[in-house]
Amino acid sequence: MRKHILPGLFPELLLSCGVLSAVSPAQAEGPRVLVVSGHPDSKNSIATKTIMEEIGRALPGAELLYLDTAYPDFKIDTDKERQRVRDADIIVLQYPIYWYTPPAIMKRWQEEVFAFGFAHDAKGGLLGGKKLVLSMTSGAPESHYHLGGRMNYPMEMFQIPLQQFANLCGMDFAGMVYTGGYNLGRRETERDKQMEQAKAHARKLVEKIRELAGTAAANEPAAPAGQAMPLVRMAYIELKPEMREAFLAAVTENMRESLKKEPGVLALYCVVAKDNPNKLTFFEMYKDDTAYEVHRNMPHFKKYIETTKDMAVSKELVETAPVELRDQHNTPHEY
Ligand SMILES: Cc1cc2nc3c(=O)[nH]c(=O)nc-3n(C[C@H](O)[C@H](O)[C@H](O)COP(=O)(O)O)c2cc1C
Repeated sequence: MRKHILPGLFPELLLSCGVLSAVSPAQAEGPRVLVVSGHPDSKNSIATKTIMEEIGRALPGAELLYLDTAYPDFKIDTDKERQRVRDADIIVLQYPIYWYTPPAIMKRWQEEVFAFGFAHDAKGGLLGGKKLVLSMTSGAPESHYHLGGRMNYPMEMFQIPLQQFANLCGMDFAGMVYTGGYNLGRRETERDKQMEQAKAHARKLVEKIRELAGTAAANEPAAPAGQAMPLVRMAYIELKPEMREAFLAAVTENMRESLKKEPGVLALYCVVAKDNPNKLTFFEMYKDDTAYEVHRNMPHFKKYIETTKDMAVSKELVETAPVELRDQHNTPHEY
């Protein structure tokens, strides 16, 4: 049987606002949420167990799947799982980080279920319209996950394969919720603290799911199915005249490094006003919010910010929404 995040609530709300005059059976159901736990021993978990239970309480209509109890022998029932995926509008993958990736049981489920012909084919993704959310916990604290930190990379970078998995299958990658500091060695002494952390994590996740469910209910995807919306920003900077040369050297180095090292940075353009060589206009396009977060944590970007911090007279940032993004190298679909 299908389960739903907020059964009956959306249509009534919409009817009371006069948005809907009649409710079709599909609309009456609301967006369907599937939360998949990839913990290999969920009964003895603190973080994943708490997060799953909290979601169950906050969103009683969500379907909770524990892979370790459903498939202790790793023999995935692919027909059943594909039906679950077909039925879901929002899919949440919940897992502890094991050697920087989701545990083997979740990988197995992914490999068995999302096969060619079901999830994607030669023409593209087949799961358009669905949203994928990642939710993970780690033993190391969050402060260890940054460039040059103990774990060397931000957590977002370890999730890039799953982000691309969403892209290839045509799903809309809807971001991640992450908390660290579930130290294995201190499980017993810090049990209460870890449970509180997990509850706070669950609250963020529930909020995210509710936001997405609101979007899904509106039935107006932000981008065509399977196509993530890039983040496009304009920046207008006026330089102190005596700093112009130094600023241009720093910014061009940052732009080149970003494009060389970060696949999520799609385009960076800088032009100067002909009537005022100190007035610069930047056009920046990132694959999505995560790519922008990764960019902000890169050493070349931090160096550029530090070097140029006193060089401008004024800076204006304008967040934009794409209307049409097209050039000779990438069709809009490839963005
Ligand atoms: C086999 C194994 C590998 C792990 N690898 C990592 C890791 O790469 N990075 C990290 O920060 N924590 C790692 N941890 C710690 C887990 O992420 C942490 O115990 C988990 O998030 C806690 O969640 P739980 O209470 O639901 O088990 C690992 C734990 C195990 C058992």
